[in-house]
Amino acid sequence: MRCVFLLLYVTAVRGLDANFFFDYWTDLFRPWPLNPKEGFVQDYTPKHREEFDFIVVGAGSAGCVIANRLTEVPQWKVLLIEAGGNENFFSDVPIFASFLSMTPMNWGYTSEPEPRACKDLRGKVCFLPRGKVLGGSSVLNFLIYQRGHPEDYNDWARMGNPGWSYDDILQYFKKSENIKIDELKNSSYHGRNGYLDIDHAPYKSPLEKVFRKAGEELGYERRDPNGEHMMGFSKPQATMRNGRRCSSSKAFLEPVRFRRNLKVTKHTIVTKILIKPQTKTIYGVEFIKRNKRYRVLARREVILSAGTIGSAQLLMLSGVGPTEHLEKMGIRTLVDLPVGYNLQDHVTFSGNAFIVNDSRLCVNDLTAASPFSAASYMTGKGPLTLPGGAAGLAFIRTNVSNDSVASRPDMELVMGAGSLAGDFIGILRSLLGVTDKWFWKVYGTLPPKVRWRTFSLNPVLIRPRSVGRLMLRSSNFFDHPRIQPNYFSDLNDLKAMVQGVRMIENIIGTKAFQQYNTKLHDIPFPGCEHLIFDSDEYWECAIMQTSITLDHQVGTCKMAPTGDPTGVVSPRLLVHGVKGLRIADASIMPRIPASHTHAPVVMIAEKAADMIKEDWGYLN
Ligand SMILES: Cc1cc2nc3c(=O)[nH]c(=O)nc-3n(C[C@H](O)[C@H](O)[C@H](O)COP(=O)(O)OP(=O)(O)OC[C@H]3O[C@@H](n4cnc5c(N)ncnc54)[C@H](O)[C@@H]3O)c2cc1C
Ligand SMILES: *[C@@H]1O[C@H](CO)[C@@H](O)[C@H](O)[C@H]1NC(C)=O
Ligand SMILES: *[C@@H]1O[C@H](CO)[C@@H](O)[C@H](O)[C@H]1NC(C)=O
Ligand SMILES: *[C@@H]1O[C@H](CO)[C@@H](O)[C@H](O)[C@H]1NC(C)=O
Ligand SMILES: *[C@@H]1O[C@H](CO)[C@@H](O)[C@H](O)[C@H]1NC(C)=O
Repeated sequence: MRCVFLLLYVTAVRGLDANFFFDYWTDLFRPWPLNPKEGFVQDYTPKHREEFDFIVVGAGSAGCVIANRLTEVPQWKVLLIEAGGNENFFSDVPIFASFLSMTPMNWGYTSEPEPRACKDLRGKVCFLPRGKVLGGSSVLNFLIYQRGHPEDYNDWARMGNPGWSYDDILQYFKKSENIKIDELKNSSYHGRNGYLDIDHAPYKSPLEKVFRKAGEELGYERRDPNGEHMMGFSKPQATMRNGRRCSSSKAFLEPVRFRRNLKVTKHTIVTKILIKPQTKTIYGVEFIKRNKRYRVLARREVILSAGTIGSAQLLMLSGVGPTEHLEKMGIRTLVDLPVGYNLQDHVTFSGNAFIVNDSRLCVNDLTAASPFSAASYMTGKGPLTLPGGAAGLAFIRTNVSNDSVASRPDMELVMGAGSLAGDFIGILRSLLGVTDKWFWKVYGTLPPKVRWRTFSLNPVLIRPRSVGRLMLRSSNFFDHPRIQPNYFSDLNDLKAMVQGVRMIENIIGTKAFQQYNTKLHDIPFPGCEHLIFDSDEYWECAIMQTSITLDHQVGTCKMAPTGDPTGVVSPRLLVHGVKGLRIADASIMPRIPASHTHAPVVMIAEKAADMIKEDWGYLN
């Protein structure tokens, strides 16, 4: 099995030309079961100086939605530009999510060294995977569909952003959604006519049953965390169609691929937004495709949907950003705005493994790679359909939360059907950035038989207080930006995380889990051996050694009203001080919601499309 993966890896990463591999080879495999809504999006190479009504930069979670909704207006000619190529057969498999971060579908960003996080990971930096493919990070992500707490959006409105309260935006969550879960089809919180399929994994994990019972023992209800009450235990809702990934591209782009007013250019990298210096009006973008530089022109607007990293980087390279920083980079400032500040993210502690006495409860990588799993996946079932391997979610409130909204959780617990200890092939190690040396020291002493029956239960800090910053490294687009997430710079975040670990210990202590004699693996992490195992100090140390991001970076182009010095875009998502430039993606969030971020980004894009139609008189 290891050989098969190695072979795939070598072909995917180092062997053939990436374009060839992704656009042709894998195309042969993807389209089953045949679904008329699905199919490959044709590549279009614009002519130099070709004109479009709208140019959308980035075909990610947001960009695909925008392209779909704008081309509903037949007289609008839209160009969608994406740096990556197609999704493929492998990226469709929900449990392989972590594998994708090792392919050219990932931009491959890393953080600057962090004083309180990722201290014992490869290169002593945090990996920050981002999708570079049609569908963007919704192709790399773990498929989990979460919206956050209503007060998260009411907070946005209270910060001076009219139109963004929960009552205003719930309609956009519903508009985008096609709920496939029977018991939620009548819920007033879910939509049935949207493009984005939401379903449970068809695989019924026996571990999820134990988890649910444990929750009940502790007094938590099993609930729809996207419904009236967020707090509680649940089985993950996922962006999934027939047991396969339903990315933003598959949901929103492929069904409209034959629209004549929609053109999509792949393997195309935008390097600059073109702004007239006198009037501060945009007139197009500059991009590189197959080593050739082009300019295309926008008659109405350019919409940046390049994501939290891409959008901030492009703005600054185009002269929109903090003057002092741009000057250092040798870039002439056109508009002085606080681009790159307000970077927020969710961090998770994922090094622990729990051992049960029955291997049938767990799904580790060798189980996933077995021919049996492959065979059941062919029919849309089996353990390969677990979204990123996750079998259960819980939203809880730790005792260090001082949130005045009592119903808002500050911690999410994600239960994985497998664990790092059972990472026989090494994929998980690569995703987390754990070194082999670390792995063998902590888990190497466990016999393979035992590693086989382990699972993970990880705390995610969903209401972080720490804030980071993104800066340019140079004025060259191809130099990755300098990213400082500043995880745990506010020590309350570290304390909350330790309480998350304590909650997990409570869960493991329930009768439900003790029926399987569940134990925390107790070899201390390297660098923390001097502390008493299981003391608060030990966990603080362990968390700083191996915590990683859940890849929810947001906020670098913050939405705030005119006059607020922290704002980059207005509540209508127009860049302050620039005419004809809008941003619609994760970067506009003024504060990160207590949730995974894909669903909120899709909501933002749906709303943005309506605002664009409104502003140009195409919506009454
Ligand atoms: C590994 C991983 C796991 C995750 N798990 C979950 C999860 O389980 N649930 C969840 O809700 N969220 C999850 N997320 C987060 C979620 O997927 C993102 O928040 C969301 O996809 C961001 O959407 P976006 O539109 O802002 O950016 P993206 O989806 O990243 O889209 C940006 C697009 O712009 C393109 N682009 C950027 N710069 C340029 C340029 N210069 N020229 C041309 N194209 C460009 C990129 O290639 C990309 O396709 C995860 C993310 C990752 C990476
Ligand atoms: C949903 O509502 C319809 C009509 O009111 C009803 O026929 C159906 O049984 C309901 N389904 C569920 C799952 O409650
Ligand atoms: C929170 O709970 C832990 C036990 O889980 C306890 O040790 C700690 O003192 C509590 N903290 C507060 C602020 O109540
Ligand atoms: C919670 O604590 C933080 C940091 O100590 C403080 O800034 C915030 O105002 C507090 N919130 C409430 C509701 O007390
Ligand atoms: C697992 O442990 C529990 C509690 O000790 C015990 O009752 C059960 O029989 C064990 N199961 C297996 C398969 O060993």
